Amino acid sequence: MARRKKIYEGKAKILYEGPEPGTIVQYFKDDATAFNAQKKDVIEGKGVLNNRLSEFFMTGLGSIGVPTHFLKRLNMREQLVRACEIIPLEIIVRNYAAGTMSKRLGLEEGTALPRPIVEYCLKDDKLGDPLVSEEHIAAFGWASQHDMDDIVALALRVNDFMSGLMYGVGIKLVDFKIEVGRVYDGDFQRLIVADEISPDSCRLWDIETGQKLDKDVFRQDLGSLSDAYTEVAKRLGVMPKQATHISKPTLIN
Ligand code: TYD
Repeated sequence: MARRKKIYEGKAKILYEGPEPGTIVQYFKDDATAFNAQKKDVIEGKGVLNNRLSEFFMTGLGSIGVPTHFLKRLNMREQLVRACEIIPLEIIVRNYAAGTMSKRLGLEEGTALPRPIVEYCLKDDKLGDPLVSEEHIAAFGWASQHDMDDIVALALRVNDFMSGLMYGVGIKLVDFKIEVGRVYDGDFQRLIVADEISPDSCRLWDIETGQKLDKDVFRQDLGSLSDAYTEVAKRLGVMPKQATHISKPTLIN
């Protein structure tokens, strides 16, 4: 079998050339990083969970008419996605204050925001993904004003969908990040949700207890990250079986 061509390797995923032009195979690794990769670990099963969860969210978004890059899941760790030009921005939507917003504005974690707030960070690991304004984005040409209108509309639709989905299983969607890509259909171009949507890129708190079920568990050493992600997957009805542990045979006495 011919070796696949690796296009890119990031902190949590590897991209390979897909079987047809315009497609990419997205492989989810078990690697977890935080604080711009200063903290690293391998969390067994995380890639499997994120592959399934991202499929679940992207498929749901597709079914309500939000365009995404997702085409189909290929196996436990890989999905086929549509190739696109990634806009070099991390698009963050916040419903409650947390993380960098709490620090910057001195807001207590969990403070409800008056309305969802959309923020942008420039995708640049060397600079630590700095916060940028629409003025920076327009002036440096990272996206056009028309793109920005589409990006805000997409981000808010994703927020409504994800907030409702999570609320239904007793989870509060505090904030999340998406990435958006550009695709060309003949003479037209449009923007689609790309990359991944998973507990790696969301803040998810149990509504009753406030327990964190996202990557903050890893960032803040709050317990088992794979248990937290498995809990999210179970509540959503994704992977009800113990599929994350399939790869590890155990001796039965
Ligand atoms: P934020 O509070 O700005 O940063 P941090 O996670 O470092 O405290 O993040 C807001 C949300 O966006 C949070 O759910 C994590 C997610 N996010 C990413 O997944 N990747 C990123 O590069 C950034 C900047 C945020």
